[in-house]
Amino acid sequence: MEKLKIIGGKTLSGALKVQGAKNSVLPILAASILVEGESVLKNCPNLKDVDAAIQILRYLGCTVSRKDRDVYIDSSALTKSDIPDNLMREMRSSVIFLGAILGRTGEAILSMPGGCELGPRPIDLHISALEALGAEIEEVGGNIKCRAAKLKGCEINLENPSVGATENIMLAALNAQGETVITNAAREPEVEDLQDFLVASGAEIKGAGTSKIIIKGKGERHALEHKILPDRIVAATYLSAVACAGGKIELSDIVPGHIKTITDCLEEAGCKFKIYDDTVLMSSNKPLKAISPIITRPYPGFPTDAQPPLLASVLCAMGTTVFVENIFENRYRYAGELGRMGADITIEGRVAMVSGVKKLKGAYVSATDLRGGAALVVAALSAEGESRIAEIDHIDRGYDAIEEIFRSIGADMWRIDE
Ligand code: EPZ
Repeated sequence: MEKLKIIGGKTLSGALKVQGAKNSVLPILAASILVEGESVLKNCPNLKDVDAAIQILRYLGCTVSRKDRDVYIDSSALTKSDIPDNLMREMRSSVIFLGAILGRTGEAILSMPGGCELGPRPIDLHISALEALGAEIEEVGGNIKCRAAKLKGCEINLENPSVGATENIMLAALNAQGETVITNAAREPEVEDLQDFLVASGAEIKGAGTSKIIIKGKGERHALEHKILPDRIVAATYLSAVACAGGKIELSDIVPGHIKTITDCLEEAGCKFKIYDDTVLMSSNKPLKAISPIITRPYPGFPTDAQPPLLASVLCAMGTTVFVENIFENRYRYAGELGRMGADITIEGRVAMVSGVKKLKGAYVSATDLRGGAALVVAALSAEGESRIAEIDHIDRGYDAIEEIFRSIGADMWRIDE
């Protein structure tokens, strides 16, 4: 089994370019179904979740090829409108294909995306929104069957600003008659990146990044070249690692405004920042100070995906830091694994109390989920001695060549097979 072997305790210094955003690539790969001709996605990270999405596109009949971090997609030959269970199980967020397949073919059949390590992952907001657009949806034997001879634009207010539901509505509404208005839409930067891709293809969409998005249906959409947005959560992970290990890092090709909640926290912890247009410089002399309560919220609030790596960065801070996880029910599963390294974390429901300890000791641990696995890497890099992290498939879903990245800034980290 592949594991990450890390000898911690070294300071980390160097310059890193931030990979393209997983949560941008996935909806844009789905959107390529609605675009004529061959589109090119630049800065597309090498991730298991991207591989899974490409597998789905190929199954549907699209032609997809990769050259390093550029992906070429031509959906002209798409013939299918279903995603088989084995492909759905590969990646829970495959539900993002629902709106695009329905808009393109008039039907879509997917197996219910199961829950995941973070708890139940309902899709009721996706379903009710597509029904509002005129889709007939039935759940039969664990499958969702959607039909829509034609979709009609309407106003849709989301109960909570779901990222996936916002994106699914944007994609389904492109082929609807008339105008669709989404209120209480998700404001994440990845939703804006999806809008940028679609507008560049000729679609009439505006408002992404705000709570109100307006989509004009119909119209042709032509192939285009699009550079994927930098991954703000990966950037947060790199910063969290250097903050607690100590050292200096230059992050390039990043949008500083997208990680402001994270850099504000690390600045409060004692890290020093210099911020430029697309570059962030950070230096850290341990130990960090504990910080004010970190409460996860929809963007522009503190991102739930950055909670695990940031929690790992304050395990040896002076004092106690409180975390409140408001987005997912079960996002502290990794805390038990951090406890094996000597961390002092008390969990009560959505609240985690992290009391700083003098030092962490390397241990044999297992990743529980994508960002929980990233938290184990952050902790192992500052722990004394050797750690081995198993189940790193979780980490490879969202981090492109994580051991090469950290080795390039001085970490003793290898991928081993045992
Ligand atoms: C996206 O997931 C991201 N994934 C997640 O990143 C991220 O944590 C999440 O948004 C929140 O920012 C991708 O973009 C591929 P939601 P998504 O719909 O769209 C509830 C990572 O680590 N909800 O905004 O699934 C839901 O249960 C991943 O990269 C409903 O109740 O998230 C959750 O509590 C993890 N009904 C909350 O809303 C619905 O129909 C936010 O979910 C949909 C969601």
